[in-house]
Amino acid sequence: MKRAIVPTQAERVMRDDDFIVSKTDPKGIITYGNPIFVEFSGYTEDELIGTQHNIIRHPDMPRSAFKLAWDTIASGREFFAYVKNMSKDGGFYWVFAHISPDLDADGRIIGYSSVRRCPKRSAIEAIAAVYARMLAAEKAAGARNAIAAGTQVLVEVMSREGMSYEELVFAV
Ligand SMILES: Cc1cc2nc3c(=O)[nH]c(=O)nc-3n(C[C@H](O)[C@H](O)[C@H](O)COP(=O)(O)O)c2cc1C
Repeated sequence: MKRAIVPTQAERVMRDDDFIVSKTDPKGIITYGNPIFVEFSGYTEDELIGTQHNIIRHPDMPRSAFKLAWDTIASGREFFAYVKNMSKDGGFYWVFAHISPDLDADGRIIGYSSVRRCPKRSAIEAIAAVYARMLAAEKAAGARNAIAAGTQVLVEVMSREGMSYEELVFAV
């Protein structure tokens, strides 16, 4: 069993010209990571390849955010999101991620690609507050109803702002 990593408050900040790139198979198993991904994740390339992408999942991230991501990319569409990730040493780093499906000649999904850039500081603050509310709603609802409760918070924010999910992501 993998030992649980204790999250710390040590932040790694992406540089303006950094791109963190990774690719996965259709199940989210990492098949490629660029050197910047290796640097920020704190894992070696060998540790990353063949591992589920949730290896860098941060416990502050709501489950419902990943549900929305997977529903979107598995249906063949691209997805944009701010994500807080956790490095091997427990530190964290925020990214602005674009995930898209890789299709074969017949349009079947053969994997996913993801490119992440440095997010705006103001966006991180706004999104972190929404994620905290989604996470609190998930915890209060219990495991079985967590996804619905977290999603409901996001739906309320979208309806209050009068924006779709994607409009919201680009407006912050
Ligand atoms: C191409 C691709 C990139 C991903 N990048 C991340 C990422 O940077 N951080 C993350 O926590 N999850 C990422 N995920 C989602 C994970 O596969 C996983 O769904 C998520 O970490 C939540 O973990 P869980 O499904 O075990 O709850 C990515 C998935 C794909 C397909």
